[in-house]
Amino acid sequence: MSTVAASIEVENLTKEYRTPKGDWFKAVDGLSLSAKPGSIFGLLGPNGAGKTTTLRMLSTLVGPTSGTARVAGFDIATEPERVRQHIGFLTGSTGLYPRLTAREVVAYFGQLYGLEGDYLQERLEFVFRDLDILDYQNKRCGELSTGMKQKVSIARAIVHDPPVLILDEPTTGLDVLASRNLVDFIRRSRELGKCVLFSTHIMSEAERLCDELAIIHKGRIVEHGTKTALMKLTGKSYVEDVFLAILGEAKIG
Ligand SMILES: Nc1ncnc2c1ncn2[C@@H]1O[C@H](COP(=O)(O)OP(=O)(O)OP(=O)(O)O)[C@@H](O)[C@H]1O
Ligand SMILES: [Mg+2]
Repeated sequence: MSTVAASIEVENLTKEYRTPKGDWFKAVDGLSLSAKPGSIFGLLGPNGAGKTTTLRMLSTLVGPTSGTARVAGFDIATEPERVRQHIGFLTGSTGLYPRLTAREVVAYFGQLYGLEGDYLQERLEFVFRDLDILDYQNKRCGELSTGMKQKVSIARAIVHDPPVLILDEPTTGLDVLASRNLVDFIRRSRELGKCVLFSTHIMSEAERLCDELAIIHKGRIVEHGTKTALMKLTGKSYVEDVFLAILGEAKIG
């Protein structure tokens, strides 16, 4: 098996959509970034800034209008299958079959990724324990609470132990304890050398997790850098204040 660089390299990525009136607009506009192995990169931005669209392009769910990206060393346009094998992607619209149990769903996706036999069972045990799902692993997904579903979606996304994690607002719907557990999980992933790219509206989470941040507005990166660099740049001590300062400038400018 080839060794895979757990990194994300994005160059000039652009996605155009049509407005209801029929004009074209850029949901993502010439976005470039680079996220390293063993690091956590956070995308922050107001509603409609283009975060989900960016993450969906990197996960090969939608194709870019222009620009390129390599995820785990593979090109999103020419090697989408390879990209999908090497990422764990979590987004709000991730479907869980309501009639299947949590364990059946995660096992099913494990099999799609080519896991089988003892290794599949080991991975199921590991992710269920790690995410604290064991108690309800045999409940049907249709009968789970929002937060429980979210955790099963995460289990589903990481069952194949991918080197790159792409998480769109991963703690949405989770209670304080479950959010904290997920934050710990993301940190452990970093320690294991994985590259994590995630979006969030929760500034305390960005504060605790991110090595690097990009602040997005109208599809463009307004500012990016390490947490410390951005704090220095804005003269602020908290990510929330950094975010507001940078966004305030972008809106005026
Ligand atoms: N399939 C689509 N067709 C047309 N426009 C779209 C589509 N998907 C997204 N958009 C538009 O692209 C822009 C960016 O949307 P996106 O979902 O990427 O924002 P976001 O940063 O994730 O916002 P939020 O914080 O609310 O989740 C928005 O103006 C949105 O309406
Ligand atoms: Mg979004």
